[in-house]
Amino acid sequence: MSSLFKNPVARRLLRPAASLVDQRVQRPVSRLRKDLDRAAYGDREAREALRRELDGLREELGSLREEVTGLRVRQFAFDLLFERVGRSGNRTPTRQEHEELVREIAAVSGKDARFARRDAAAAFRSVIALESLGLGRLAGTTANVCGKLAAIPLLDPPNGDVLEIGTLFGLFSAAMLRMMHRAGVEPRLTVVDPLAGSQLQPGTASGAEPTGTPVRLDVVRANLALGGTAGELARVHQGLSGDPAVREAVSDRKYGVIVVDGDHTAAGVAADLEWAELIAAPGGIVVLDDYGDPGWAGVQEAADEHLAGPTRFEMLGRVATSAFLRARD
Ligand SMILES: C[S@@+](CC[C@H](N)C(=O)[O-])C[C@H]1O[C@@H](n2cnc3c(N)ncnc32)[C@H](O)[C@@H]1O
Repeated sequence: MSSLFKNPVARRLLRPAASLVDQRVQRPVSRLRKDLDRAAYGDREAREALRRELDGLREELGSLREEVTGLRVRQFAFDLLFERVGRSGNRTPTRQEHEELVREIAAVSGKDARFARRDAAAAFRSVIALESLGLGRLAGTTANVCGKLAAIPLLDPPNGDVLEIGTLFGLFSAAMLRMMHRAGVEPRLTVVDPLAGSQLQPGTASGAEPTGTPVRLDVVRANLALGGTAGELARVHQGLSGDPAVREAVSDRKYGVIVVDGDHTAAGVAADLEWAELIAAPGGIVVLDDYGDPGWAGVQEAADEHLAGPTRFEMLGRVATSAFLRARD
């Protein structure tokens, strides 16, 4: 089988052409079989009809071949825009995956599925736009990234102060600012990340960065500018979230949204959650990235343990591999 036909996206795109082949070729072929039977018994008229039919079929096949070639060309351009090369994974959700995401966003936010669908689509478009124009990539699967982006504004955070712990290239923050702004909130962003040249992740070997882009302040600044004025005005604190100087500078306000996406070890997540207890505004949203992701077991382990103890946070639910908590007063 050609590799094109093994590719599920290509198969989806080529489905109309395949049914065209069925319509244009299968029916005439069964008619031809009858004509062949007649021609075999010396019927001259039948032989003539057969020849005409064959000429017609040849023409049809030629035009189908042209259509398929055209589709292959379009498929390649589509792949360049949406496939996994140079980013975290492919950006080609199926309709079923997208609808599942819409259901999860609606469930966690308590909002009508119409709004969840609208915002999931807007999130997807932002991801494609920012990864096309920005430096580096957004981290994570399409479902997880779009789920966070759509759910955060739908959860009506109590204020526009947003903290992201672990920003990598800053593109998720830029997208989040855009999603909040389009929902009518003018956000104020603070990010914390060592921006050490490459991603720091205690306990894991640092693999090659698929984009080849360095994790640096100038890169994050360039990306945050894609989030509009709020991105240009963002506060970037270079350092670890456990660093007392960073904590002191960042703890000057109560945040409506805190995204915990830094050190993914159980100890790192536990420490960030303890800090978040102190700086989350009443009604504030805490997003725990990679909760339930088997690749980052420490996240769920620390979160479940934290939530089983004395806490202001209540679990609202999950979307893809992110958990959403709300701070009580
Ligand atoms: C998974 S990436 C963040 C991805 C980003 N939020 C996104 O959605 O595209 C984790 C980032 O956290 C940084 N990091 C690791 N430990 C940290 C810590 N203790 N405090 C702050 N950032 C940390 C890493 O260097 C990396 O840049």
